[in-house]
This record gives sequence, C-alpha cells and structure tokens, in this order.
Amino acid sequence: MDSNDGCVQATRETVGQPPPACAMVIFGAGGDLTKRKLIPAIYNLARGKLLPDRFAIIGVSVEQFSTDEFRAHATQDIKEYSTSGVDENCWNWFVQRLFYVSGDFNDPQLYARLGEQLGKVENEEGTGGNCLFYFATSPAFFAVIAQHLGDAGLTKQDDKTWRRLVIEKPFGHDLTSAVALNHALLDVIGEKQIFRIDHYLGKETVQNILAFRFANGIFEPVWNRRYVDHVQITVSEELGVEMRGGYYDGAGALRDMVPNHIFQLITLTAMEPPISFEADEVHDEQTKVLRAIQQMTPEHVLDQAVRGQYGDGTINGKHVRAYRAEPNVPPASNTPTYVAMALHIDNWRWAGVPFYLRTGKRLADRVTQIVIRFRRPPFVLFRKTSVNSIAPNELVISIQPNEGIPLSFEAKVPGPVVRLGAVNMSFQYSDYFGTTPSTGYETLLYDCMMGDSTLFQRADMVEAGWAAVQPILDVWNALPARDFPNYPAGSWGPEQATELLRRDGREWRDPSGAPSHGNGNIAAGPPVRPVSTS
Ligand code: BG6
Repeated sequence: MDSNDGCVQATRETVGQPPPACAMVIFGAGGDLTKRKLIPAIYNLARGKLLPDRFAIIGVSVEQFSTDEFRAHATQDIKEYSTSGVDENCWNWFVQRLFYVSGDFNDPQLYARLGEQLGKVENEEGTGGNCLFYFATSPAFFAVIAQHLGDAGLTKQDDKTWRRLVIEKPFGHDLTSAVALNHALLDVIGEKQIFRIDHYLGKETVQNILAFRFANGIFEPVWNRRYVDHVQITVSEELGVEMRGGYYDGAGALRDMVPNHIFQLITLTAMEPPISFEADEVHDEQTKVLRAIQQMTPEHVLDQAVRGQYGDGTINGKHVRAYRAEPNVPPASNTPTYVAMALHIDNWRWAGVPFYLRTGKRLADRVTQIVIRFRRPPFVLFRKTSVNSIAPNELVISIQPNEGIPLSFEAKVPGPVVRLGAVNMSFQYSDYFGTTPSTGYETLLYDCMMGDSTLFQRADMVEAGWAAVQPILDVWNALPARDFPNYPAGSWGPEQATELLRRDGREWRDPSGAPSHGNGNIAAGPPVRPVSTS
C-alpha cells in the first residue's frame, strides 16, 4: 500500500493535518519505551491519519536485528501494547516503514551507516530530508549521540529541511549536570531544534489547565493571593519501583518527579497569561514562575521539606515488600521514595500563598491532582456558625485517574432549620468527551513533527527547575536520613508530611475526595455535612 488509506480515524479525529514528510530515528529501539509507548503512539497517529504518507522509522540499537527481525518484533509487541487494537491494513502500511540499523552508540561507524540508511529512505520513501532523532536511551548516551550526530553532519538543516532532537527525561541529575548537558547539546544543534519531553505535558488534563484558566473569564479574577489560601499538588503512586531499582536508587523521588512533572503542574497553575500561545511566550511565563520560587536556605530545607522511604506494608489487600528489598536496591539504601514540601512563589500574584506538594511511591492510591483551596468568607453571615465550620471552597483539577474538575461550595440544607452542607459541582471528562485510548505520547510526537515546541521544555526552564530543588538535594546529600523506612507501603506517607501542613493550620485533602478540612466533602453530590446554625 502506498498511502495510509487503510488506516481508520481513531485518535485526535478532528484536529490537525498530517505533518510534512519525514523520517524518525529512534535510538534505543530495542528498549521498553520504544515498544510500550513510541511505536504504539506513532501507530495511533497513523490510525488517526496524522502521519505523513511519506514516512519512515529507523530503529537504532545495540541489538543485532535485521530490518525483518525488527519488523517481526514490532508486529508481536503492538498486539500487546496497542491502545487502539490492531487494524491489519494500517499495520501493514506502518510496518513496511520500519527499518533497523544496529551498532554501538559510541562507534562513529554507526552514524555513517545511519547516514546511508537515511539517504535510502529519503530516496525510496520520499521522506524529504526531514528527520526527528528520538533519544530513547539511557541518559548517559544523550551527549554522546548528539556529538556523533553532529560530527556525521546529520543535524544540519537548511531552508527546506529540518532536523530535530527529542530527549526524554531525566535531563541531568542536578543543576550542574543539566547545565553541562545543555551546553553539550547546544554545541551541536540549535535550541529550537531540541525538544525536551516531559510526558506529563502529553496528558490532556495537564494541557487543559491552560484552557481552563485562560479560556474562561470567571476563574482568573480569583486566581491570586487575595482569594487563594493555598495550593496542594499530590502525585501519588501505588506502584513501587518495579524493575527500575537500578535507575531509581540513583535518582529518588525528588529528582524523579519534582523538577520535571510537578514543576510543570506548578508553572501551568501559577503562570501569568502569556501574550499568545507561541511556544516562547508560554515558556517565558513558565520560566518566570520557576525563577520566582523562593530559594531554600539549609534551615528552610530542614523545616519545609520532608523525605520518606517505604517499608513493607499492604496495598489492595496484598503484602508488598519494603523499598530496600526491591530488586537492584542496596539493602541499606537511603534513597527517598517520598517527598513533600512547601514552596513559596515570590511574585505579586502568589506572595504568601504556600504551594504544598507531595509525591511518593507505594502510597495508598494512584492520584494526581491540584487543589486550589480558597479563603474562607471574610464575614460570617450565619452568625451562630463559627467561621471554622464553614468549609472553604475548593477547586480540584484532577489529572488522573478520575479526570475532571470538581468545585465545592456551601449550600443550605433544605428544611426549617438553617443548616449548611458542602456540595459539589463537577465536570468529568468522560461525560463530555468520552475516553480516547492513547499512550500519552501522540500529541507530543505529532507536535515534534509539526515543529511546535509549546509542550516541551526550553533549556532555561530545565535549569530553573533544577536550581529550585538543588538546595534540597545538597542538604539531603550532606545529612543522610536516619529514620528510613519511615512510612509503610499503602499509607499516605510519613507523619512529618502531615505535620508540615498541620503546623500551618492546614490539612492535606484526602485524594479520594473524603472530607479533609473543616467538614467539607467535595466528592459527594448531595449535602453531606450539615452544620446546625440554630
Ligand atoms: C516517570 C517516573 O517519569 O513518571 C516514574 O520516572 C513515575 O517513576 C512516572 O512512575 C509517573 O508517570 P504517570 O504518567 O504514571 O503519572
């Protein structure tokens, strides 16, 4: 088949044109990311008619496959990892566009062979000289591969063609290494050609934060220190480190989740409206937020940042082992699997409004949500009700798994006696838009091919993110934790994290939606918390 006519419309049905003809080179084509996410995502684009007809993928890895073997593996794997089933016609079209080059990433010969293969797909598949190089490898190879691509002349673009690099996190392991990596890449290729992926930005619910804030007139006026008491961000996981102990033990919860995923959530929540949705305008505003995060002194770190590591415990009725007993984790490891902290954003909009964040593995539930807790009403009309018993309004941006946006407020419970109850207005994505099976990478890959870098991180954003967490890394490095493990698997983390908010007179919202502050219950529709005022 010469065109992808056999592909049915399945994802992103209504938006976008196919990108221009191009080739995509995946370094690390033998790895997990390629088979679980990248190939299924590109295949979903093909099904949604969002791939160019003139397209090719060249897998590059150390494994000695032929192109036929690579195609055969991909055909097996797609059955397991496709989120949209396998349409025979579409897959046949797709699989003919897979090619493979094997070699060692350190070997200059590999890049000579890759150059030949690129020339070949340009002639035979008509990919037009455009190419996306995707680094799905260990971060140790990022600078090496970029350097070799540059030396081999493969990163050169001209007026008619483009060459782009796509890099997965982790982007450095601290500020110094992130700066060094940026330098190494920028020696070879221009900033506009680099697409630093944070897969959180591939989530529709994360992208919707901007739409929610800036496509509606009613929220922005109250989105500031005058009306917001504080913001909470929870990214909790039930999973442990699975088979990633080798990587994770060198990273820990802070590096793994905070300067990247959680900072994306913070910047989108806290940024000023950009003057347009041009990538640089959005990035400028995000970067300003990161730069405004108050630098922590060592005393602040000890006071405002909490670390934890899970011991054994029970999740969903099953006993699970402690972090130190996970594969490839040293038995005396001091790596945190949990982190909580209070951050302050020093600008006019947010001065004095704490942003509390927490993330951890082996917690009671898998939830990602942003809670905007508003101030209580300043004047108590219901005189016999103490101000503390009126629950503050709460807006929850629920990123996953129950994608939606509930807003809680107080209402009068019907009846002759004046009583108040917390009620809920709720938007659920599934009610309006159904659910579209996706890997979360479709939009990001499509945008790379289109050259839209809005959902990617610019060098200065990455560095500003690391700069904000570096003081914590330094203090924790200098003072290894002495109380690990300090939370059982299946709990909500260490007691110190509860204390972090309690001493400010606040509480974490129960992510399941149960009442956490005052007596509010934002999950329930009907009033559930009557307060007598007579
Ligand atoms: C990855 C981290 O970047 O994000 C993992 O390395 C974490 O440790 C994952 O589990 C969480 O992503 P998601 O999409 O499941 O929330």
